[in-house]
Amino acid sequence: MTGARTQTGESVAAAIRCALLTPEPRAKVFAAREVARNWRLGRLAWRFDVAMPDRPAWPDRPELLPPNRMPKRGKAGSERGRIALWHALAHIEFVAIDLALDMAGRFGAAAGRALVDDFLSVAADEAMHFALLERKLRRLGSHYGALPAHGGLWQAAHETRHDVRARLAVVPMVLEARGLDVTPATRDRVRAQGDEDGARILQRILDDEIRHVRFGTRHFVQGCEKAGENPPECWKTLVKRHFRGALKPPFNDSARSAAGLSREFYAAVASGANARLPQNT
Ligand SMILES: [Fe+2]
Ligand SMILES: [Fe+2]
Repeated sequence: MTGARTQTGESVAAAIRCALLTPEPRAKVFAAREVARNWRLGRLAWRFDVAMPDRPAWPDRPELLPPNRMPKRGKAGSERGRIALWHALAHIEFVAIDLALDMAGRFGAAAGRALVDDFLSVAADEAMHFALLERKLRRLGSHYGALPAHGGLWQAAHETRHDVRARLAVVPMVLEARGLDVTPATRDRVRAQGDEDGARILQRILDDEIRHVRFGTRHFVQGCEKAGENPPECWKTLVKRHFRGALKPPFNDSARSAAGLSREFYAAVASGANARLPQNT
């Protein structure tokens, strides 16, 4: 158990690596929250003496499929459709736990304590989001792993494993920001179907994700300023180079601006350079 491993002198990198290499979902949730807590309480040493794994450990189920082989979700609002929706969201949050852990463990040494503080707190949030969705699936008579899941969610991390600013540009500032755009509509649809409990979970996730995008944007802007580069210009270059997808409007401008992500960053990419970005379904 992670708790037993957490002894005086354990390095923050070793604790993070251990959580990344925990495959079983509930154990990973526990491990991620434990690392975040131990870090916050000053129980982990500021040492980066082990490398992060190329790929985290995941459970045998869900089966991971390329997006074009994912089965149809079923009619929205049908029981099958609802389970498919919550399962897809649970998978996104499960991978998000590892994305946040990897950010802190891989880039913390060079970027500094504030990045580790912020992204370990994100890892704890993602673990909570996953746990909420997993419980939701169980209330619907299903569970995480019952359906296949999108196999491409680690790709962005792999693509940006050598460059903290590329990672920040793509993961919090594109992928998590995309969550800000789409979650309100999903929440409203779920509520219109009479699922107030589901709507509340999505609202909580949305509120937390604004903070995650804010952390990402803040560290990105600081990194650019340190390098004497213009943040929006630098972001556009990195997104074009490392993100294989389109930035699709409509954007949730108010949530994005609450997260510090101004239109200066994404407006030009969305309206002009969109066509140059290869499409990803
Ligand atoms: Fe999340
Ligand atoms: Fe997040």
